[in-house]
Amino acid sequence: MKQLENGVTRWAYTFAIAFVLSCTAFATDDARYGIIPKPLSLKEIAGEFHFTGQTSIAVPAGNARLAEIAEDFAAQLHKTSGLTVKTVQQPAGNIVFRETDGFAEGEYTLRITPQQIVITASSPVGIYYGMQSVCQLLPPAIYGETKAGKVKWVVPCCEIHDAPAFPYRGIMLDVGRYFMPKEFVMKVIDIMAMHKQNMFHWHLTDDQGWRIEIKKYPKLTEIGSVRKESPVGHTKEGDGKPHGGFYTQEDVKEIVEYARRRCVTVIPEIDLPGHSTAAIAAYPDLSCFPDREYEVATSWGIKKDVYCPSATTFRFLEDVFTELFELFPSPYYHIGGDECPRDVWKESSDCQDLMKILGLKNEDQLQIFFMQRITKFIKEKGGKTLIGWDEILDGGSVPGAIVMSYRGQAPALRASQQGIYSILTPNRWCYLDNTQDNPEDALSINEFMPLDKVYKYHPVPDTMPAARHQYILGQQGCLWTEYIPTFRKAEFLMYPRAVAMSEVAWCNRENKDWNSFRLRLLKEFERLDILDVNYSKAFYDVVFRFDKRLPFPKKAALTIDYPQALVRYTSDGSTPTEKSPVYSDSITVKKGDMIRAQGFLSNGKKVGRMTEKQF
Ligand code: ACM
Repeated sequence: MKQLENGVTRWAYTFAIAFVLSCTAFATDDARYGIIPKPLSLKEIAGEFHFTGQTSIAVPAGNARLAEIAEDFAAQLHKTSGLTVKTVQQPAGNIVFRETDGFAEGEYTLRITPQQIVITASSPVGIYYGMQSVCQLLPPAIYGETKAGKVKWVVPCCEIHDAPAFPYRGIMLDVGRYFMPKEFVMKVIDIMAMHKQNMFHWHLTDDQGWRIEIKKYPKLTEIGSVRKESPVGHTKEGDGKPHGGFYTQEDVKEIVEYARRRCVTVIPEIDLPGHSTAAIAAYPDLSCFPDREYEVATSWGIKKDVYCPSATTFRFLEDVFTELFELFPSPYYHIGGDECPRDVWKESSDCQDLMKILGLKNEDQLQIFFMQRITKFIKEKGGKTLIGWDEILDGGSVPGAIVMSYRGQAPALRASQQGIYSILTPNRWCYLDNTQDNPEDALSINEFMPLDKVYKYHPVPDTMPAARHQYILGQQGCLWTEYIPTFRKAEFLMYPRAVAMSEVAWCNRENKDWNSFRLRLLKEFERLDILDVNYSKAFYDVVFRFDKRLPFPKKAALTIDYPQALVRYTSDGSTPTEKSPVYSDSITVKKGDMIRAQGFLSNGKKVGRMTEKQF
């Protein structure tokens, strides 16, 4: 074990850490302002603006969208403070929304003085983001559902110029594996909007469930939305309990409108031609072998029952998308394209005949034909831009479609060489079902993805030449829910990592700062508490980092995210105290070693819980 040698070294180390952290705290505006994602620039100004019964918001005459933004803010402030903020016409008003030319999408300036708040932008979304910054500058109580007790409704003065680094800042929620309640979907959208994330990718269909009402095909939800049972944890055993649920078209309209008010676009995903067992169970004619028996999948993994590239399937999909066009105004539609086994297409004489007629060499090309066929319809009839998982680059190309690069970053690099746009969702940095606090957690999928790893990810691959950076549209966090049956567990895996992702997609490389983010998170947790979010508390605890594949003896690191904390640990099974050795570098562990660790502040106060690891 490597330990600090003597008291002098320990004192010097403690002092150095305290000095660095206090510099961080004083050199930046993190503690006073605490905005996430970090604004492009923030200049401190002395003093505060006080919200009172006399506060009013001035909106340009006849601008209904800005009036709506003002009213939504006023309603929230009234609910939590009891103060009534009126909307007035300029030039009156001490909160001023000013629209002017010359700002990019989402860009704004915010100037707060003791007398006035002025937000300037070229579009409502910029003004909305300015107001999100104002909300974050207010006490966290602003995010509540009821009137707060004694709260000073003030914001610190400052001058902010802010703009997103990337136009696409997304979160994906898989409701195919487990249905998630409408209210939870809205809560996810709320938290996205707070952090200036603008694309909600809704994975609505999968082998284990079809979750959206389609009037022309009622069996999609009567049959396709219910499975007989679900696997127990990571076993092959079934729990014997039916699982179901779907969103009616009225629910969808409500969610889309809720998102619109918050400057969030809802992108529906209908996964095709794979991940379609639930639809085939409802309508077996969609398969290549309609006489076989099908049921909604009751296990996870990649399924062989996929859509047949037949006239029946294309008519069905065109009907489905025609209904979706009425529900989702999004300019982007996601059509999946991932993980489509070729087995039934190989077996089907109809598919083989079709390939001959079309002159296709293999089933990869048949998949591309399938994607091109449906893309053409959605583009021509709906005027939409298509997004697909990175398999859309295999076996040909889907003209005009955007690639979601999930099998690492290589697909995005390949796409950029062909002048194709990408959104980065590499599974090792962006899949929120990856474990965050324990490299050996059995209930999550297999990648260890702690908060700092998420935060430090940048969506432009290092090896990409600057001339091609334009092809990177942004980044997205994806929550796949195979092992996440409840929305409370979904919250646990999403937050605070989805909050860190807001900064990944909003900030350029130079403006990101992990130490600053850690400090700003302290206020963020107060917001998440008010919002009753079941976020992971791993931030407060010592996390053991090691490579589970390496043999013993091996190195392990003990880290803590909480800003002012020192890690103290023991290796004799005792509980760490403020006198235990301070961890500095890596330690070497043997099989059977028991390490216990605890974060402490310099005043001896404990941070979080004691954590332990038996190696
Ligand atoms: C995926 O992870 N199958 C997109």
